[in-house]
Amino acid sequence: MGKDVIIACDFSSKLQVESFLDLFNTTAHRPFVKIGMELFYAEGPGIVRSIKNRGHRIFLDLKLHDIPNTVKKSMKVLSELDVDLCNLHAAGTVPMMQAALEGLTRPDGTRPLLIAVTQLTSTDQAHLESDLLIDRPMDEVVMHYASRAKLAGLDGVVCSPLEARRVHEVCGNDFLTVTPGVRFADGDVGDQKRVMTPEQAREIGSDYIVVGRPITAAPDPIAAYERCLHDFMD
Ligand code: C5P
Repeated sequence: MGKDVIIACDFSSKLQVESFLDLFNTTAHRPFVKIGMELFYAEGPGIVRSIKNRGHRIFLDLKLHDIPNTVKKSMKVLSELDVDLCNLHAAGTVPMMQAALEGLTRPDGTRPLLIAVTQLTSTDQAHLESDLLIDRPMDEVVMHYASRAKLAGLDGVVCSPLEARRVHEVCGNDFLTVTPGVRFADGDVGDQKRVMTPEQAREIGSDYIVVGRPITAAPDPIAAYERCLHDFMD
């Protein structure tokens, strides 16, 4: 399980994502890409097959959360799409996460990597308390959810780069940390609040960084992607 840069392809149509990916036709390394709900709901599972056929590895970011039986059957469908990485909400609890793993495992024993969302970074301490009735500090909640994901047999978590080091301390260095919220030191932060540069993400031990607009909205997306690879991997 190597380190890599995952490009968040937050486009709303096949046409847009394909014209973006066409830019990478001449590069040696086909980027690892993230497909989120917007593109998946707009285009359906065919978009996953078509991007896979272009030679990209795929993180399908659908964040499943339902009863164990439903998640198990849904994960079986996703495993047949041949994605490389997919996710769910740890809030679904250990039985749901275990059922997800069962559904995801193909008859030959292989399966995509499965990671958990702990608490969404859009949830703050005030809403943790008022809406979810959780009165523990956010950091403790995130580490607990990560531990439960590990106990269920998952491969890692999506987390803020600021949490990655602690997740590795609590769950071990082999437990993957996949971290969005990455910005170049000289780039726009946009709506992200707590950001890190690719170099900082490397230093704190992120396994995969998820980078969207710093690459997709760059004047030269290939140069921006290669800068991320250089800063994060070298
Ligand atoms: O454009 P940007 O680099 O901000 O994109 C980050 C990607 O990571 C987006 O697809 C966003 O939805 C996702 N993400 C995030 N923060 C989280 C979870 C996912 O930014 N906590």
